[in-house]
Amino acid sequence: SDNLAFTVVVLGASGDLAKKKTFPALFTLFDKGFLPKDLAIIGYARSALDINDLRKKIKGFLKSKDEAKKDEFVQHITYVQGAYDKSEAFENLQHTLEEREQKSQGGPAGRLYYLALPPSVYPQVCKGLKEGASQLPDIEGSWLRIIIEKPFGMDLESSEDLAEDLNKLFPEEQLYRIDHYLGKELMQNMLVMRFANRFISPCWNNQHIANVQIVFKEPFGTEGRGGYFDEFGIIRDVMQNHLLQVLALVAMEKPVSLGADDIRDEKVKVLRCISPVKGEDSILGQYVSNGKDPGYLDDETTPKGSKTPTFAAVKLHIRNDRWEGVPFILKAGKALNERKVEIRLQMRPTVANLWHEEDPNALRNELVMRIQPDEAIYYKLAIKKPGLEYNPVMSELDLSYKSRFKETYIPDAYERLILDAIRGDQEHFVRRDELRAAWAIFTPLLHAIDDGKLEPVEYKHGSRGPPEADELIRDAGFVRNESYVWGDSPRR
Ligand code: BG6
Repeated sequence: SDNLAFTVVVLGASGDLAKKKTFPALFTLFDKGFLPKDLAIIGYARSALDINDLRKKIKGFLKSKDEAKKDEFVQHITYVQGAYDKSEAFENLQHTLEEREQKSQGGPAGRLYYLALPPSVYPQVCKGLKEGASQLPDIEGSWLRIIIEKPFGMDLESSEDLAEDLNKLFPEEQLYRIDHYLGKELMQNMLVMRFANRFISPCWNNQHIANVQIVFKEPFGTEGRGGYFDEFGIIRDVMQNHLLQVLALVAMEKPVSLGADDIRDEKVKVLRCISPVKGEDSILGQYVSNGKDPGYLDDETTPKGSKTPTFAAVKLHIRNDRWEGVPFILKAGKALNERKVEIRLQMRPTVANLWHEEDPNALRNELVMRIQPDEAIYYKLAIKKPGLEYNPVMSELDLSYKSRFKETYIPDAYERLILDAIRGDQEHFVRRDELRAAWAIFTPLLHAIDDGKLEPVEYKHGSRGPPEADELIRDAGFVRNESYVWGDSPRR
């Protein structure tokens, strides 16, 4: 509504997430005119902060050359100091909000509570909010929504406990669980690409697709974040959430409509068709020094002798008619040779290959969606090598966003997701049953790792990861085309 009195309360205002993601995303939305005109931003934290210091600090994280705009933005920020476990503190917050909402033009109030806090305090903070700061003005169209971020528990059971605690206080419609991969441009494109193209949808199944890889690679290690990381490991950090969300969008059936719940129903359904990962279908790794860059255990913040995996490759099976027999490989690692996240579908060979009778695997088609960096979709296909000779060669249909959409601003995931939350659209947020299904897939494997039954193999900082992972992928039927290089990118 045009006269919405909109307030976003950032709890944990001085923390890392708030500074690096939440405030910068709010700024961009503000800068581009996407935030309601009647805007207030309240930072909330335990410590006594001087508002001018806080504004200055936040300003330092805003990416823009427009000093005036940044100043204008930070002027909307005020600060409320308060504990996370005291009812008076939340009552005080409610009081501040009431005053601010009364001053507005008599329109409805929208309150977005952004919990930029460790999940261990979610239950008590939500309790405080529910009891002390959830009283909205009695004006139609008023709303209250809560954004929370992973980690949502450590396994199926603890995640369910957390969800149960929160659902006792707020219903699903008010809880916005962020998985920021759902805010990335190419993920948002997935349903359009799959279901709006006649030449893609009929091929999207085990008749035509031989194997699928979803790969996450980062070129840096934990670098001082070892304390946090070590508790979780790569599977909890990116695989159980980000990569499974990608998989769900790749593999789900066509939803009945574009409604948030229709889409999420299909995601849950396909996740529930996946059996829990077995130890023998996984390769775990931990990086060691390459002589120049430190190994995981060399990081002072990492506990000595830790067996936490910083790399994992797993093979999943989706037991339904569409995907029976198609291995889905998820691979994720820190301290690898490049930064890249991509989805790769390798098609089955053509029947009776006229050019390579002896090698039916020559000229295999692949569809690659590169989520980052440099968003791109390209389809590897065989064409006649241009020239007088008559030989086939692998080439590609190439949709590189940078050259195709030159003037288009591609929003950061957080910008889009915060905007969705303001608009009340839950499509790109994780529903509780989705989360449950995702944990069910990885919990037995995670427990085996936690119990020391599975150990990581070593790989060098800056390498492709353990060679065992390449073997797993090869055994899953993936045929690597050694000679093909796409564009100026290094070989995968
Ligand atoms: C976070 C993980 O959720 O995602 C990090 O905790 C990881 O370890 C990050 O680096 C990756 O996000 P992006 O958007 O940089 O791919």
